[in-house]
Amino acid sequence: MSTKDVYILAIESSCDDTSAAVLKNAKVLSNVVANQKIHEAYGGVVPELASRAHQQNIVPVVHQALANANIDKKQLTAIAFTRGPGLMGSLLVGTSFAKSLALGLAIPLIEVNHMQAHILAHFIEDDAQKIPEFPFLAMTISGGHTQIVVVKHHFEMEVIGETIDDAVGEAYDKSGKILGLTYPAGPIIDTLAKEGNPKAFPFPKPKVEGLNFSFSGLKTAILYFIQKQTKENPNFIEENLKDICASIQYTIVNIILDKLKKASKQTGIKTIAIGGGVSANSAIRKALKDGEFKFGWTSHIPKFEYTTDNAAMIGIVGYLKYLQEDFTDEAVTANSRIKI
Ligand code: KG4
Ligand code: ZN
Repeated sequence: MSTKDVYILAIESSCDDTSAAVLKNAKVLSNVVANQKIHEAYGGVVPELASRAHQQNIVPVVHQALANANIDKKQLTAIAFTRGPGLMGSLLVGTSFAKSLALGLAIPLIEVNHMQAHILAHFIEDDAQKIPEFPFLAMTISGGHTQIVVVKHHFEMEVIGETIDDAVGEAYDKSGKILGLTYPAGPIIDTLAKEGNPKAFPFPKPKVEGLNFSFSGLKTAILYFIQKQTKENPNFIEENLKDICASIQYTIVNIILDKLKKASKQTGIKTIAIGGGVSANSAIRKALKDGEFKFGWTSHIPKFEYTTDNAAMIGIVGYLKYLQEDFTDEAVTANSRIKI
């Protein structure tokens, strides 16, 4: 491996954010994310609309990422892209764009697993962040995923727990929909919860074996609870919104923390890293910090811009794979259900 600097252009289009980033080795030079507001009106991501919006966004987003990094496309060393998991129509846009550009520039193409990227985002070089030591436990919590992963090395990962139904972000978003909040409801519930009483309304915790999760029962419990209460008092939601949000957040954070404690005890690993959109949650961040003196954990919480879907995290995986010369054949196709 020569000591020449490596410039990676990374593309992420797995769900409803179109993103492009440029990395110089492990450092991020630019990270542009175009959110798709169109889904707000539908209370969730509409795959057809997401795919169409990616097609509209991808060229300007890539141009912007190159411009912000002050890099000409001819300087690029390789192109990294999200192959999966995600929505097929969305993945196809990023995959075909990356393939054509790599082919046009005659540079290597590198496929990236979106879930590995949420974890390896912790390896982005940034003065404000420390890099986790192996082995560590990674908890990936987003609108599409809830996983606990043992990370022995960059590309040696084992999923030891995951959701058997809804992801934790979905639990937030679906609860929010019941309460009449806009999508995505996670950040709104988080904000309202800060001013409410977390013990106002006790919601049941699911009983799931081992390190797996289940959130669909919680959503149903909230739905029945709200239906019952609003029958008696039509203004129940407005009058109790902060307490309801605080109670939902308290239940969700407890579920997550219980499993994390169990995973740490079972594996003997005390270094814990979180990633994914829900890791922006203030109560989860606090619980992890508290775990440092309560349980002797070392916690790693990513910078806000690397928690939700972004191409910088795809770029760091691209760089790590580039060092191993782990390139992808141009015949590659998107894979919506690819595993870690
Ligand atoms: O990683 P992400 O951007 O996209 C997926 O891959 O799903 O995660 C989006 C999810 C949404 O469900 C959103 O409600 C949730 O992350 N989220 C939060 C917070 N910020 C974003 N959930 C709880 N608290 C937050 N502060
Ligand atoms: Zn994600």
